[in-house]
Amino acid sequence: MAGRIPEQLIQDIIAANDIVALVSQYVPLKRSGISYVGLCPFHKEKTPSFHVTADRQLYYCFGCGTGGNIVDFVKNIEHLDFIEAVRFLAERAGIQIDSLAFSAEDKKQYERKQRFLEMNKVAARFFRDKLFSPEGKGAQEYIQKRKLTGETVKAYGMGFAPDEWDSLVKHLLQNGYARDEIVQVGLATFTKTGKVIDRFRGRLMFPIIDVRGNVIGFGGRIMGEGNVKYLNSPETPVFNKGQNLFSLQLAKKSNELILVEGYMDVISLYQAGVQNAVASLGTALTAEQARLAAKFAEKITICYDTDGAGIKAALRAIEIFDGIDVKLRILSLPEGKDPDEFIKANGAAKFTELLQNADTPAGFQIRLLRKKFNLKDQAQKIEYVEACTKVISKVKSSVEREVLREKLANETGIRGSAIENEVEKNRGKAKKREEWNIRPPKPASMQMQKSKTGDKIISVCLKDKRVFKLYKDTLMEIIEDPVHREILNILEETDDAAQILTRFSDEDVPKAAAALNMPVQYENNEKAITELIEALKKEAHDATVKAAIESGDLALLNTLLMKKDGNE
Ligand code: CTP
Ligand code: MN
Repeated sequence: MAGRIPEQLIQDIIAANDIVALVSQYVPLKRSGISYVGLCPFHKEKTPSFHVTADRQLYYCFGCGTGGNIVDFVKNIEHLDFIEAVRFLAERAGIQIDSLAFSAEDKKQYERKQRFLEMNKVAARFFRDKLFSPEGKGAQEYIQKRKLTGETVKAYGMGFAPDEWDSLVKHLLQNGYARDEIVQVGLATFTKTGKVIDRFRGRLMFPIIDVRGNVIGFGGRIMGEGNVKYLNSPETPVFNKGQNLFSLQLAKKSNELILVEGYMDVISLYQAGVQNAVASLGTALTAEQARLAAKFAEKITICYDTDGAGIKAALRAIEIFDGIDVKLRILSLPEGKDPDEFIKANGAAKFTELLQNADTPAGFQIRLLRKKFNLKDQAQKIEYVEACTKVISKVKSSVEREVLREKLANETGIRGSAIENEVEKNRGKAKKREEWNIRPPKPASMQMQKSKTGDKIISVCLKDKRVFKLYKDTLMEIIEDPVHREILNILEETDDAAQILTRFSDEDVPKAAAALNMPVQYENNEKAITELIEALKKEAHDATVKAAIESGDLALLNTLLMKKDGNE
């Protein structure tokens, strides 16, 4: 997308804003060598790995791998799309931007998105009005049956989709929207005969609202029992299920979140006064949702249904949260209850009490293990303890390890010191494995990690135009990484790193930024590049040899080794 914005405009806007000054408004930065360093605002961390370089006007986080130019930063930190971010920066710098300055394509996309959001708002109002009209009587009864108050219905902007083929479609057509658009935003579908009919019919409607207050989609529940209990909007240009959480716009006020499975769980908790629950949107939790939640909260408690599927989902969620710096807890409600049923039956006080005593991830895993073994049986008891020590040995906090060891000792009657030995043994093994993994395959002096060598080559080229011109052809022969190749091509036109970054898709920006941001300082760039080229060749060769060994391709291995002998 970025590539289509007029180059001059983006250059002016980037030049008029200083990335160090801008980032400093969000995170304190400290000067360190050629860059500024601080705590990354995009993931939780305790030691700073977020770098901003003033001369290149780029940022990069070595912890979570995000990076880019000043426009990317604004996009990510303010949750804006590209045009909005450019406007934000232009405003900040006092630059008047004529909307005509955007490329026709960018402008079209932006306006289309705005129109979709507006259409969703019109639809939400339509559903709400229907709920309070005579047609909505059945839905009102259902709401009463679910014990939801008028206030709750209002807080969630709930509505009713009439049980007719095209009542919403008609309404939207009257409001000037076209059939195609109505289908594209997910509110209607084409039938085989080419008719356009409402997607949601005869359902209680829940608007899905993002953190900025936009209605991005809907969930609709049938009233009573039946098939397809919940129907959601499909993925659309404004609705990405994996990137949003239901009710986060309300829950984000709290710095603790509760992650539940269903819309009704969220709403029920809210009505009972627990107003910080969120739910994923009809799909399993994604890493993006986990990061989004962690952006708003220091502590997140998973409270899924206590059935087999819920337990599985909780274990999966623990994995997803691994590496995301947030205090994670797992709350297991009594068998067979979901949070909605629980809080209705037992009240908020009881729920809050359980919430405060929720398990740590390891505690939860041990609780599950406990159900699998009969401790009266000696062999099973040993198995149980061994399984638990594996879990405990992965716990980072030594205090928590101590608590869990103690508990296990009490429960099994096995001496604490024996358990401690086992845990430490596991930890020792894990540590060795880790060290082994990060060590380069052969610690020869020329050997560098593959990606780093590529990054260094790019950085030298960025710095030294002469060297770049001399070696470009050679480099194009040996560099395979598509992002690196693309940078080399763009370098023909410009050596402005920020400018180069605008040519990459969001997905590739971190990788490109890593290469453009690599701090290199060589006395002789030409000598450095020839050495880096040799290193890259050797890495490629070693990788092929390794692959040949792993796949057992002895013929290939022989050829490769012979070639090597011949070379040396
Ligand atoms: N879900 C869905 N499509 C379905 C069933 C479920 O998208 N056919 C999603 C919805 O987001 C729902 C969540 O999964 O809120 C949890 O589903 P479930 O546990 O079956 O429903 P409850 O939350 O218990 O809903 P209710 O109490 O209304 O039965
Ligand atoms: Mn339920």
